[in-house]
Amino acid sequence: MKIAIVGTGYVGLVTGTCFAETGNTVICVDIDQEKVKKMQSGVVPIYEPHLDMLFERNIKQGRLFFTSHLEEAVTQSDIIFLALPTPPGEDGSADLSYILGVANQLGKIMKSYKVIVDKSTVPVGTSEKVKNEISKNTPYEFDVVSNPEFLREGFAVDDFMKPDRVVIGTQSEKAKKIMETLYKPYVRQGNPIIFMDEKSAELTKYAANAFLATKITFMNEIANFCEKVGANVDMVRIGIGSDSRIGKRFLFPGVGYGGSCFPKDVQALSKSGKENNYPFQILEAVMAVNENQKTILLPKIKKYFEENLAGKKIALWGLAFKPDTDDIREAPSLYIINGLLEAGATVSAFDPEAMQNVQNILSNQIEFAPTHYDALKNADALIIVTEWPLFRTPDFDKMKLLMKNPVIFDGRNIYDLDTMKENGFYYSSIGRKTIEK
Ligand SMILES: NC(=O)c1ccc[n+]([C@@H]2O[C@H](COP(=O)([O-])OP(=O)(O)OC[C@H]3O[C@@H](n4cnc5c(N)ncnc54)[C@H](O)[C@@H]3O)[C@@H](O)[C@H]2O)c1
Repeated sequence: MKIAIVGTGYVGLVTGTCFAETGNTVICVDIDQEKVKKMQSGVVPIYEPHLDMLFERNIKQGRLFFTSHLEEAVTQSDIIFLALPTPPGEDGSADLSYILGVANQLGKIMKSYKVIVDKSTVPVGTSEKVKNEISKNTPYEFDVVSNPEFLREGFAVDDFMKPDRVVIGTQSEKAKKIMETLYKPYVRQGNPIIFMDEKSAELTKYAANAFLATKITFMNEIANFCEKVGANVDMVRIGIGSDSRIGKRFLFPGVGYGGSCFPKDVQALSKSGKENNYPFQILEAVMAVNENQKTILLPKIKKYFEENLAGKKIALWGLAFKPDTDDIREAPSLYIINGLLEAGATVSAFDPEAMQNVQNILSNQIEFAPTHYDALKNADALIIVTEWPLFRTPDFDKMKLLMKNPVIFDGRNIYDLDTMKENGFYYSSIGRKTIEK
């Protein structure tokens, strides 16, 4: 099949590359000309495990192309995917200007039947808006399909190649057949392609993200309560996770959810609820709890240093909003850094992939260390913000030699309490008792 992907970010580039991998011809469009140039010269502009190998292979074999000209891509393609940003507008609702702007241009460009597929996360009713926008400018037949994406950054290629499910919202038999043929190679293990109407497909994506954000937030509240009453959240987590109705996944407490999806999608669904005379009470609570959770370590750190962080050097491990990505959108690390700098501390940070992105925002306000051990030199304390595998089994003796004080605030509970006691650290984590050394 001949496919155009409009918007070559985390979703668009993975989608385009993975469609090329099964033999389709894919042309990816982006307005960011620098990005397009990079991709044309064979450079993957984001960090996503396993993507580089597929990217290189499909370019080499002549199935994956890049352009900054929408018309060039649309003319050559039968299916047009929109993988454009839908950031929060000022009032929290999803900003549809990218999607509707491109839809408007599509109407002017297309010269034959096209299937236009919305892969971006959008509020209920957007398919209808896209349809209206395209119709303004074209006499040609077309279908608009809602096909929300569920990939996770860090696992995006795996998630795309072997999805738990594919959701397709369309009432057109013609579009349904085309989408089924396109996705068949990805569901050979029996995972379903679920067909539904456009509105239900649009809501499925928001409902999934809002549910997951709620699950994390619930566990964060249980963890905070554990600290008040002297319970251990690890035990509670295992205790409830073995109930198959609850499940083991997504029960790890931490410093709040971040990233480009959960915060904006919860906000957008909440706004959509208000607009439709159904204010979601649960989502208001989720947002308020998460706001607090992002900086939950700061009062603990301040208390340890008797409210005086001025001149203290704090090492920080992990900047990305989660491991295996360079994405720092809404990352808890940024909120923590801000709080530390405001309190007069200096920060020395290390992240395997996200340092350049943070440097682009903070320039020289913090120090970027070449290795995780370098970040510890003369540090008064270490904060662990992202649970990169690299941080899981460090040389604790080396850490103690490098640091001024053996003090760790762990926002991801990556170490056992017993191990930290044996190694002589002051160790404060989430929802567990503090090891005082
Ligand atoms: N990132 C994720 O993990 C994820 C997962 C599922 C769904 N989504 C959703 O997918 C959508 C895209 O997210 P993303 O993370 O890939 O965004 P992104 O910001 O990484 O990528 C968007 C790309 O679109 C480009 N762009 C903007 N305007 C354009 C235009 N007019 N023409 C062509 N290109 C244009 C940008 O330059 C950018 O490269 C959002 O709605 C998001 O909520 C994201």
